[in-house]
Amino acid sequence: MDGKRVLLVEDDSAQSSMLQLELKRRGFRVNAEKTVAAAAARIEKEIFDAVVTDLRLGSGDGLQVVVAVKASQPETGVIVITGHGSIDTAVAAMKAGAFDYLTKPVEPEVLALALRKTIEHRDLVGEVRRLRAEVKERRGVSGIVSASDAMGRVLALVAKVSSTDATVLVTGESGTGKELIARAIHENSPRRDGSFVAINCGALPEGLLESELFGHVKGSFTGADRNKRGLFEEASGGTIFLDEISETTPGLQVKLLRALQEGEIRRVGDNHPVKVSARVVAATNRDLMKQVTAGKFRDDLFYRLKVFPIEIPALRTRVDDVMPLAEAFIKKARVRTGSPATHFSPAAAKALRSYAWPGNVRELEHAVERALIMAGGPTVEARDLPPEIASSAPAKRRVKAKPPRKSRR
Ligand SMILES: Nc1ncnc2c1ncn2[C@@H]1O[C@H](COP(=O)(O)OP(=O)(O)OP(=O)(O)O)[C@@H](O)[C@H]1O
Ligand SMILES: [Mg+2]
Repeated sequence: MDGKRVLLVEDDSAQSSMLQLELKRRGFRVNAEKTVAAAAARIEKEIFDAVVTDLRLGSGDGLQVVVAVKASQPETGVIVITGHGSIDTAVAAMKAGAFDYLTKPVEPEVLALALRKTIEHRDLVGEVRRLRAEVKERRGVSGIVSASDAMGRVLALVAKVSSTDATVLVTGESGTGKELIARAIHENSPRRDGSFVAINCGALPEGLLESELFGHVKGSFTGADRNKRGLFEEASGGTIFLDEISETTPGLQVKLLRALQEGEIRRVGDNHPVKVSARVVAATNRDLMKQVTAGKFRDDLFYRLKVFPIEIPALRTRVDDVMPLAEAFIKKARVRTGSPATHFSPAAAKALRSYAWPGNVRELEHAVERALIMAGGPTVEARDLPPEIASSAPAKRRVKAKPPRKSRR
């Protein structure tokens, strides 16, 4: 607590001098005032890490000091000192926003400890607030890079659907950002304080997937040694993201349909329905309509999911997003890899813009990461890119018979 600023408000000179001395010996920087008016004036002008005030200040009342601190620097903790062990005044002080109270006679060591606690508390509260804001910032739509008209239209849909509880079906090739969009919908919805639960429906066999989604009761199958809530219940009040929804079996599709239509699920091994209120966002990189025609996907579930479809176009159809994405990924990867690279050479940029990106944004992210490792200096050259990308820019011809007037591409 070295150098932390403390304001001591105490009208008894002897007591004040003693406490100032003791706190200074423990590394605090102490200013002292004797009256409410003087203390209030000081609190207006200067910021303290903590304030200590006697509750009986001659004709004044230490409660007013608490109120003044809370009004002008609410983060600053106040410790009050009560004279006669009167619990009533201590309670009043805590209600007014004091952090702690001590009764006279005050042990300097106890006061120093209380001060450290209030300062630590203030620092933690500030830290939590800062981290929360940072997490929000990272997860919110602000983390989505969008420069093309096509992506602008996607984000407009996201903004529109976020405020509703509508089921959303996000489609797009692998790596186009379906999960990112699903998270953005959640983060921008009134459910943002609930959980966002994601599950890949293609990664588990039917039985396990069912118990993951809907939960199970003890004894319902070998290994079910206790009751377990499913993800639908965990996401109640929040959002459940059903990734690769096309991979579900017809049996499970019936159960999903009931969850969507009736807002009801059954835990495996349990006959009682449970009400759930999870908002559903589903995603697929397949043509679900084709799956329906082929008899692999139930049409009633398909139409129920398709209430609000959002299609993310492939990256090759929105070339305007390529460089802004690449630059965002440089920044991100630089932090992780400690690479000195900050930008792309014109040839590298040309290659990035010409390449077809079958793996879409994910492939671009990986390519940039790799290029950063390869690049020796501040500029990422074309040769630092994976070979299939580096060679995708149309090469300049060596021998030109009468060049055309300036052709693009
Ligand atoms: N517009 C964007 N802005 C910034 N990052 C993006 C954008 N689109 C995608 N990404 C990033 O690209 C990667 C792939 O995105 P995501 O996992 O959401 O794709 P997906 O469509 O779910 O892929 P898959 O079908 O393979 O599951 C992620 O790291 C994501 O953060
Ligand atoms: Mg995904």
